[in-house]
Amino acid sequence: MKILITGGLGHIGSFIIKNFVKYKKIKKIFVVDNISNQRFSVLLSMKSPKIKFFYGDTADKNLYKKIPKVNIVLHLASITNAEKSFDIKKEIYRNNFGSFKNIVQYCKKNNSKLIHISSTSVYGPQNNIVNEKLKKLSPQSPYAMIKLKEEKLLKTQKKVRYISLRFGTISGYSEGMRFHTAVNKFCFNSVMGLKIPIWGKALKLFRPYLSLNDAQKTFKFVIENNFFPSDVFNILSENRTVREIINIIKQNNYKPQLKFVNSRILNQDSYKISKNKIQKFGLKLNSKISRDIKITLKKLSTNI
Ligand SMILES: NC(=O)c1ccc[n+]([C@@H]2O[C@H](COP(=O)([O-])OP(=O)(O)OC[C@H]3O[C@@H](n4cnc5c(N)ncnc54)[C@H](O)[C@@H]3O)[C@@H](O)[C@H]2O)c1
Repeated sequence: MKILITGGLGHIGSFIIKNFVKYKKIKKIFVVDNISNQRFSVLLSMKSPKIKFFYGDTADKNLYKKIPKVNIVLHLASITNAEKSFDIKKEIYRNNFGSFKNIVQYCKKNNSKLIHISSTSVYGPQNNIVNEKLKKLSPQSPYAMIKLKEEKLLKTQKKVRYISLRFGTISGYSEGMRFHTAVNKFCFNSVMGLKIPIWGKALKLFRPYLSLNDAQKTFKFVIENNFFPSDVFNILSENRTVREIINIIKQNNYKPQLKFVNSRILNQDSYKISKNKIQKFGLKLNSKISRDIKITLKKLSTNI
């Protein structure tokens, strides 16, 4: 089996590729990235004859002339800073939605199956625990609005077999990890002695988190079971409050200092998400965020 992974030098991609290299079923991994996040170190650490790297922009149609035909596309290439997306609406639309449209065309042309990564942020603030049946979605950022637009576009595609995975915020260490989302930023700031910006009422608000281990488990499940039902699934390990995340950091002997701010979205929405739909198909997502936090803190700490 051949697989194309776009955005492979990022937080999720760098973790997944390391695991896919050991996976016998996968014979060739084509990785595309424009290195917009400067993660050259991830590229330099990729050492396997299975991997072939292409430098390029997935929003550029010409890129696809040089990409061989594959069985599966795992599309991860995106600008992923939801909070910053308010300031770069046009750019994120061109990059994320432009890339996505090209990927759909590539899949159509090559009869490739698509693993699409959406986000639980498409739900926006919700009072009750919500599932995929919810019609009234309320994405709060341009980033989340584009994710929903991608899901809608996929639903109109009769010729592409796909699975859309609404990922919770990722936790866990990888070589390409970044620090603009909740768990990672909280860990980084705690180790570096920086204040953690918290929106006024955010401490008690719930958000869904997804361990990299469960993300990996999900991809393996999809590939092994050829599970491309052309449908949307929530993918998360645990719903946690901001206070709980802070308390886990404290349990690891750090003293996180909070600074209350009026940020536009950082930890501002509250939503609890159900993972029942995917679990009914036999995928158990039970990794612990506390374990990811412990490892991340340890990796960031230089005095051990
Ligand atoms: N990390 C999370 O918490 C999270 C949560 C939900 C959904 N997601 C989604 O999962 C996917 C991967 O996320 P991640 O955390 O690995 O992101 P990341 O920002 O760490 O990595 C994205 C990678 O894509 C590359 N890229 C961006 N635009 C590109 C383009 N036009 N052409 C080629 N490469 C490009 C970047 O250089 C980077 O290496 C994204 O679609 C993201 O929206 C992530």
